[in-house]
Amino acid sequence: MSPPPAQAGSLSVSDLHVTYGRSVRALHGVSLTVPHGRIVAVLGSNGAGKTTLLRAVSGTLALHRGTVDSGTIHFGDTRLTGDSAQSVAAGVVQVPEGRRVFGALSVEENLRAGFLGARRRGAAERRAARERVFALFPVLAERRRQAAGLMSGGEQQMLAIGRALMAGPRLLLLDEPSLGLAPLMVQRIAGIIREINAQGTSVLLVEQNASMALELSDRASVLDVGQVRLEGASADLAGTDEVRRLYLGEVSDPGTEAEDVVPATGSARALSPTGPGLTELSRWNG
Ligand SMILES: Nc1ncnc2c1ncn2[C@@H]1O[C@H](COP(=O)(O)OP(=O)(O)OP(=O)(O)O)[C@@H](O)[C@H]1O
Ligand SMILES: [Mg+2]
Repeated sequence: MSPPPAQAGSLSVSDLHVTYGRSVRALHGVSLTVPHGRIVAVLGSNGAGKTTLLRAVSGTLALHRGTVDSGTIHFGDTRLTGDSAQSVAAGVVQVPEGRRVFGALSVEENLRAGFLGARRRGAAERRAARERVFALFPVLAERRRQAAGLMSGGEQQMLAIGRALMAGPRLLLLDEPSLGLAPLMVQRIAGIIREINAQGTSVLLVEQNASMALELSDRASVLDVGQVRLEGASADLAGTDEVRRLYLGEVSDPGTEAEDVVPATGSARALSPTGPGLTELSRWNG
């Protein structure tokens, strides 16, 4: 399939097929676009392929013995070829699942590590990037000399996002930033994502917390066993019976199916109703 016309700063994933260890098929024909300046969410239960999609975009699949069998990924005019250095150089930076920070290193050292491989270079740029991070996350400035491993889960999530911002991303890839965080911290992280986006960075947000993700994003896709089942404007998706029932923990109300949401492959079929995101969701909903 030929790639769609490139739009500057826009991510375009087309008909992506991914396997691990040559046998586990994780993505089967996933297509998705993140227009420049937007927040796009990807929802889905455990094992749906959300992290795999982000790994493919950030060029880190090979570290996990994964391969792209077919399909293309473009960021603007640049075809991303599965090389993490190339993705970062193009401005595509991932915050990995589980907020992996370097626990023995200080906050400042973690941030410095995020600057390696950045598009911008030089001490002045690094200071400017760090000041931007400290303005977004004052707690990181206060704790700059503390070992990252001693910080709370929410603070480590902030540091993981801050470290990614040090690379000056044009597109930030976030893998379940709300996971395991208390409702107030989830709201803070959501506000920070909104602010980062308002400052001009596009965001591809993977979440099981559909409530948070649909509120933040412009458009969303629902992944189910490696395929996009639903795609549409987030406000419309939040109104669909299927999403409300399976991801928002609400009772089915067939009268409110939104019209703009298209099943991505044939008719929408029921997703697994046992997604562990439901607990997270109802907690976030208060
Ligand atoms: N390194 C790996 N080796 C083999 N199989 C893998 C590997 N990583 C993921 N998989 C498999 O690929 C599929 C998609 O996994 P992925 O981690 O992308 O799902 P996910 O949507 O991110 O799930 P979760 O919500 O639990 O994080 C699953 O079947 C998973 O078991
Ligand atoms: Mg995952």
